[in-house]
Amino acid sequence: MIHVSALRKVYDTGVVALDGVDLDVREGEIFGVLGQSGAGKSTLLRCVNLLERPTSGTVTVDGQDLTVLGDAELRRARRRIGMIHQHFALLSSRTVAANVAFPLEVAKVPRAERRARVAELLELVGLDGKAKSYPAQLSGGQKQRVGIARALAARPKVLLSDEATSALDPGTTQSILALLRRLNAELGLTILLITHEMHVIKSICDSAAIMREGRVLESGRVHDLIARPGSQLTRELFPLPEPAPPGSLTVTFPAGQAEEPVLSGLVRKFGVDVNILGGSLEELRGVSVGRLRIRMEGEDTAAALAYLRGRGLLVEEETP
Ligand SMILES: Nc1ncnc2c1ncn2[C@@H]1O[C@H](COP(=O)(O)OP(=O)(O)OP(=O)(O)O)[C@@H](O)[C@H]1O
Ligand SMILES: [Mg+2]
Repeated sequence: MIHVSALRKVYDTGVVALDGVDLDVREGEIFGVLGQSGAGKSTLLRCVNLLERPTSGTVTVDGQDLTVLGDAELRRARRRIGMIHQHFALLSSRTVAANVAFPLEVAKVPRAERRARVAELLELVGLDGKAKSYPAQLSGGQKQRVGIARALAARPKVLLSDEATSALDPGTTQSILALLRRLNAELGLTILLITHEMHVIKSICDSAAIMREGRVLESGRVHDLIARPGSQLTRELFPLPEPAPPGSLTVTFPAGQAEEPVLSGLVRKFGVDVNILGGSLEELRGVSVGRLRIRMEGEDTAAALAYLRGRGLLVEEETP
């Protein structure tokens, strides 16, 4: 649905915000971009809908290369791409209904049709009853719901989200994330979101990319990244002291394996001793995934290691 290739953005100030970014977002998935402040996340998002002109590279959304479009064509293409923001970006002098209606007015949708669509959208995001309120009368979570309703007004296939939950408390954040997940499932909406919060990736993302200094360090389906040796995402999801002590093994239990009695099997079958040095278990979209650091001692540690790998676990050895 979104294909970004060799994207570079150099600002007039000389800052290289994007330094050759490639990214593929599949139709119907929620894709999270993670990275520290200044990594280039917002620049990337603004380049995806051409709010920001890339210096070079291409951006294709739903099969259309946006970088070659003229202004009028680009405005039309942008209607298929909604966007929500950290600070909501609502018009304070307009009611909730009028905020949501705004993009429809710009697109010259007739008044009656506009009304019906606004009512439908407010119900979709759980804001029926708030149509006549003003933004200042709403909580942060309600404001973001208005932002989401407005972003979906023109029935986009893609929603871009720039830190949409960063200004919200944890409970409200969870309810907005649940709403995004529901919209994704019900409307088949493709969502590209950026965040600096790992828990956002954990709770709703199918795929993720990690950015640093204008580059993508790694990207792919979350569960595929976890199965990949040396994954930075895995390290950030399951923080363990780095570097691992010499002679230790770091074992990643992929989806569904974390509940299996693998360690007791290991001890029984191979007579090895297992010391647990650290570990953590996380729910990724409701599926348990774990990472454990152990030290193994005994006669047949080689066979024990082969057994772990044979069970589909990723075992990374820290050679002494
Ligand atoms: N309009 C601009 N003009 C010049 N430089 C900019 C502009 N916008 C961003 N930058 C610079 O580009 C780099 C990337 O900024 P960007 O806003 O994309 O990062 P970010 O990952 O979104 O950070 P944050 O997490 O703080 O929002 C930074 O060095 C920033 O100072
Ligand atoms: Mg940003």
